[in-house]
Amino acid sequence: MSTINKSYTRITTKSLLEMKANNEKIAMLTAYDFTLAGIVDQAGVDIILVGDSASNVMAGHETTLPITLDQMIYHASSVVRAVERALVVVDLPFGTYQADSKEALRSAIRIMKESGAHAVKLEGGEEVKESIIRILKAGIPVMGHLGLTPQSIYKFGTYSVRAKEKGEAKQLLEDAKNLEEIGCFGVVLEKIPADLAGRVAQEISIPFIGIGAGNKVDGQVLVLHDMLGMSKEFSPRFLRRYLDLNTKISQAIQAFTTDVKKGDFPNKEEQY
Ligand code: KIV
Repeated sequence: MSTINKSYTRITTKSLLEMKANNEKIAMLTAYDFTLAGIVDQAGVDIILVGDSASNVMAGHETTLPITLDQMIYHASSVVRAVERALVVVDLPFGTYQADSKEALRSAIRIMKESGAHAVKLEGGEEVKESIIRILKAGIPVMGHLGLTPQSIYKFGTYSVRAKEKGEAKQLLEDAKNLEEIGCFGVVLEKIPADLAGRVAQEISIPFIGIGAGNKVDGQVLVLHDMLGMSKEFSPRFLRRYLDLNTKISQAIQAFTTDVKKGDFPNKEEQY
């Protein structure tokens, strides 16, 4: 059974606000390449995030910090070429928006111009407010990202749940309200208590998309490679694996290798 909402042939930031108003949950996944982005789009996901998690998933880095703006643009342009329906959001990578708001705008413009993406996402609250305002003034839609913000991993020291303490929870709520006020069209809430995330989503009218933030938010996002079971090691509580692709791919490759070694591939029908 298809779950695609056919009334949207193209998802826009306005569609997402409507979905929230109509209590329709928003589905978001990452993609970093043409082939998988096409499958994700045709399957009916509403937002495709070209996440800086490409740094881990595609390049094998330990953190999201090393990925560059040029590399993000390469991934984003590959994704954009495949997508017909979903809204394509691209992460501004670490070091391309924190120094000052003019640099942030230049980075966002490069992403929009060179990849054809529809919006950018960046991590943080009060500390990146000026950058967000400047990017929005240029007509570029911005998605926020609060809670566990992986680009600050060396400040946090761990990837554990954020905003469990009252002070941090209050700050997060204030940041979320601020992001709405300045004009963000949505916010990712990563790894925070479900009740706090639910309160934020209930009190503020823009969509809040959770990852490890419970089910009282307006939508969910996962890293595609994680939910497909590509890796066996990464196993946080919030991750639901919909496939064991690691095993399936490995079995297929073993079968190919065996066939080649046996001289069984190609057979008569598979040659000219
Ligand atoms: O880069 C990414 O994949 C993300 C998700 C965790 C939301 O920001």
